[in-house]
Amino acid sequence: MTFDTQTPIFLITGGSRGLGRAMALGLADKGADVVLTYHARKEDAAGVVSEIEAKGRTAAALQLDTGDMASFTRFETQLGQTLGETWGTDTITGLVNNAGIGINTPIAETSEAQFDQLMNMHLKGVYFLTQTLLPRIADNGRILNISSGLARFSYAGFSAYAMMKGGIEVFTRYLALELGSRGISVNTIAPGAIETDFGGGLVRDNEEMNAAIAGNTPLGRVGLPEDIGGAVAAMLTSDTRWINGERIEVSGGIHH
Ligand SMILES: NC(=O)c1ccc[n+]([C@@H]2O[C@H](COP(=O)([O-])OP(=O)(O)OC[C@H]3O[C@@H](n4cnc5c(N)ncnc54)[C@H](OP(=O)(O)O)[C@@H]3O)[C@@H](O)[C@H]2O)c1
Repeated sequence: MTFDTQTPIFLITGGSRGLGRAMALGLADKGADVVLTYHARKEDAAGVVSEIEAKGRTAAALQLDTGDMASFTRFETQLGQTLGETWGTDTITGLVNNAGIGINTPIAETSEAQFDQLMNMHLKGVYFLTQTLLPRIADNGRILNISSGLARFSYAGFSAYAMMKGGIEVFTRYLALELGSRGISVNTIAPGAIETDFGGGLVRDNEEMNAAIAGNTPLGRVGLPEDIGGAVAAMLTSDTRWINGERIEVSGGIHH
């Protein structure tokens, strides 16, 4: 069996494009169903749902702002309704905390508003969304938190972003400790630089940046969304169930 349950359903935040979309498609390829969230791009999310359905799996899309803690209870109710109507269940097999944005600004110029936006979306939101959804995650289920290579190595301009990612790596260890009694395993996947819309599409669209990252990567290129989608899907299968509380970097070996 590929997954630990007969009808695996994974919730992926920020599944409308980029890495979340690749994760959703990677999971569908392995035989899982997906609830994905989007922030503003409803049509993109509907497109991903159609792509998953074309693979013979079931999917649904819900709106969510991971920086808006006050909306989480309503989201949890909506998720419950969707699970009941679409799958006849009230739990998900696993949660992937993926949604996020990048803000590239030096420490000297970072505003409190920028810091708070990153903190709410990448740290506080991940903490309280996970807390809110704990009753919806099945026993023996999975949680994956998406961090960044930037929590291990430093690029100027990413201080606040990387601090939040460092925080969720610590959160992963505590979740693993406290949820172990329910059989839930929790890990961090830390992608390297990947060609998506993230940070204004800098890694994908800026040739100089792209070449510099490729030059620092032993495998000789910048990462693609599928590189992360495949790794995340693999980390949610039965084969990886004994990996727990770990940080796994998926970066082609950059800066080792
Ligand atoms: N790309 C990289 O190089 C890289 C490297 C390391 C880590 N990461 C991490 O990987 C994750 C995904 O990044 P990505 O490259 O896929 O970015 P992306 O292509 O820009 O996609 C961002 C996703 O997050 C959603 N989103 C944006 N703001 C949100 C909010 N306030 N609440 C909820 N959802 C929101 C977007 O929804 P809409 O489509 O509706 O706007 C979209 O689905 C992030 O946590 C990022 O920090 C990325």
